Amino acid sequence: MSLVTLREILKDTRKKKYAVPAFNFNGYEDAQGMVNSAVKMGSPVILMASMGAVRYIGLKQTAGMIRGMAESVDIPICLHLDHATDMTLLKEAVIAGFTSVMIDASKEPYEENIRITKEAAEYAGRYGCSVEAELGRIGGREEQIAVDDAQSALTDPGKAGEFAAETGVDALAVAIGTAHGFYKSTPKLDFPRLEKIVSLTECPLVLHGGTGVPEEDFVRCVEMGMSKINVGTEFKAAYTSALRDSVTGNEISEVDPRNYMKYVKTMCQEIAEKKMVLFNSAGKA
Ligand code: G3H
Ligand code: ZN
Repeated sequence: MSLVTLREILKDTRKKKYAVPAFNFNGYEDAQGMVNSAVKMGSPVILMASMGAVRYIGLKQTAGMIRGMAESVDIPICLHLDHATDMTLLKEAVIAGFTSVMIDASKEPYEENIRITKEAAEYAGRYGCSVEAELGRIGGREEQIAVDDAQSALTDPGKAGEFAAETGVDALAVAIGTAHGFYKSTPKLDFPRLEKIVSLTECPLVLHGGTGVPEEDFVRCVEMGMSKINVGTEFKAAYTSALRDSVTGNEISEVDPRNYMKYVKTMCQEIAEKKMVLFNSAGKA
C-alpha cells in the first residue's frame, strides 16, 4: 500500500493501548529487515531517517526506496524525517514524499519553539504531510544534536496541551527521563509526569531514546498512553556487529556482498519483532 501519514498510523494507538514502533534506518538492509518484521508480526511501522541518514543515502533515494518497500506489502508504513533542525531540508523532504517530518526546535525558548514548529506544520500541512515536534529537551546524543545533563529539561505538563493546540502538530515528543544513545545507568522514567501530560493533551505522544529502556518501562508507557516509541542506537549497534561477525566468519574467497549483508537484515528483523510484541503493536496493522 501507499505510505501513510503519522496522523493516520497513530490514530487508534491511545484507544487500543499500543504504540507504533519507530525505527531509525541507515541503509537498505536494516530498513528491509524492519519491514519484514512488520509483515511477519502484522504491525504498523514508522521508518525514520535522520538528517545524517538522508544526506548519506540521498533524499530522493530514501523516499523512493521506502515508498517501494511500502508498496510491496499490505502493512501501513510511515516514512518520517527524524529530528530535523534544518527547515530547508525539512521542506525538501516534504516535497520528496516523506509522509511525516519532525521539527526539532527544542533548544529554543518556548515561544520560538512554537513559531518554528508552526512554520513547519503549516508548510507540511499544505502537502498532507504530518509533523512531530519536541517540548522539553531530551538529553544525550542524537547525531547532530548533543544535549548534556545541564541542558536537558523535562516536559512541563502544563504547557503540553497549549503547545500542541497552538502549533497543530500531529505528535508530540516528550522528555520524561529517557535520553538518546546508550545509557550509563538504567534510566528513571518520570511516570507521574507522563500521567499528567496524557491527561492534559489528546495529541499522540512520542517516547525518544528507546535504546536501553527496561522492557517493563516500555510496557508501562504503552499502557499509560504513549503512541510512538523511537529506537535508533540499538539498530546501529546491531547493524555494525552483524557486519563485523559476517566479515570475520566468512572465507576470504567469499566475494558476494549479499552473503555478508543478509545478516544485517535478519538481525534488525529480530530486534524489531521483539519491540512489536513489547509495544503491543503486533496484529494492529
Ligand atoms: O529519534 C530517535 C530516537 O529517539 C532514538 O533514540 O538512539 O537512544 O534509541 P536511541
Ligand atoms: Zn529522538
